[in-house]
Amino acid sequence: MNPSPAENIYLPKLAVVDGLNDEIPDVRTIHWHLENPEDQKAFISAIKPGTFCLLSLPGKGEFTLSMPPSPTEGKTFFTMRRCGVCSRAFYDYKPGDKFGVRGPFGNGFPMESYYGKNLVVVAGGIGLIPLRSIVVYALANRDKFKGLQIFYGAKNPETLMYADDLKKWEKGGAEFHLTVDSASPGYTGDIGVVGTLFKKYKPNVENTVAFVCGPPIMFRFVIKDLLEIGFKESAIVSTLERYMKCGVGKCGHCCVGVAYVCADGPVFTYEQLKRLGEVI
Ligand code: FES
Repeated sequence: MNPSPAENIYLPKLAVVDGLNDEIPDVRTIHWHLENPEDQKAFISAIKPGTFCLLSLPGKGEFTLSMPPSPTEGKTFFTMRRCGVCSRAFYDYKPGDKFGVRGPFGNGFPMESYYGKNLVVVAGGIGLIPLRSIVVYALANRDKFKGLQIFYGAKNPETLMYADDLKKWEKGGAEFHLTVDSASPGYTGDIGVVGTLFKKYKPNVENTVAFVCGPPIMFRFVIKDLLEIGFKESAIVSTLERYMKCGVGKCGHCCVGVAYVCADGPVFTYEQLKRLGEVI
C-alpha cells in the first residue's frame, strides 16, 4: 500500500473479526474487516497477490501473515497455523474481537507481467496460503493467461486446504492434480511427494512461470525437479517468510543478503534467492 504523506505506516488500523472457518487441524481462516469503511475500501484496493500484513494483538505483540485473498474477491481474511504466542492467541479470536492491521506490504507477485503465460502452481500443505491469491486472480482474469495448472501435495485426502475452493478452481478452468503422503480408504488418487506428479501430468514449461511454496524439504526437491524438466531459475517464483518488525524496509530485521524481505520481497525468483545466498 502506498501511504499518503500524512499517513503513519506504523500505526495499525482497527479491525474486527467477522467469522472463522477451520481448514485442517490447527489451521484456521479468519474473516475480518477494518472498522473504518474508507480504510477497508483503500485496503482492498491495495491488496496484490503475494502481499502481507502485520497484525497487532493487544498484550501479545505484532506478527506477520500473508494475504490469501485475491484483489478480485473484495474480501479480507487471513489463514494461519496455530504455532507461536501471537498466532495461538489470534487463533482463539471470536467474531466481534478486535485487533490491529498494518499493510498490505511487500512487492507481491507481478501478475500483469505474467499475462500471456502459462502458470504452474506447486504447493505443499499450508504453502497454498500465499499461492491461493494467484489462482483466484488468474481464474478471475482467465483470458489473460494461458494454462493454469495446480500441483498440490497434502498429508492425506482429509487435510486439504481451501477444500471448497479446490473444487471451484477445477470447475473454473484450472487443471488440478493432488497427491497425498498417505491414502485413506476409498482414495484412488496419487500418492507420493508433489514432484512425482510432474512425470505423470507434464507441467507446461515453455512460456511458463512456476510458483512454489511449501515446507523447505519440499521446496528443495520441487526446485530440483522443475530445473530438470527445463524451467529457468528466473521462471521459478516463491515467497519468503521472515520475522518482521517494521514491515517497510527500515529496521533490518528481515535481511536476506543485501535484500529486505519486507520491502524487496517477499516475492523472489529462484535466481534472485540464489544470488542473495538464501538457503531454503
Ligand atoms: S521488517 Fe524491518 S526492514 Fe524488514
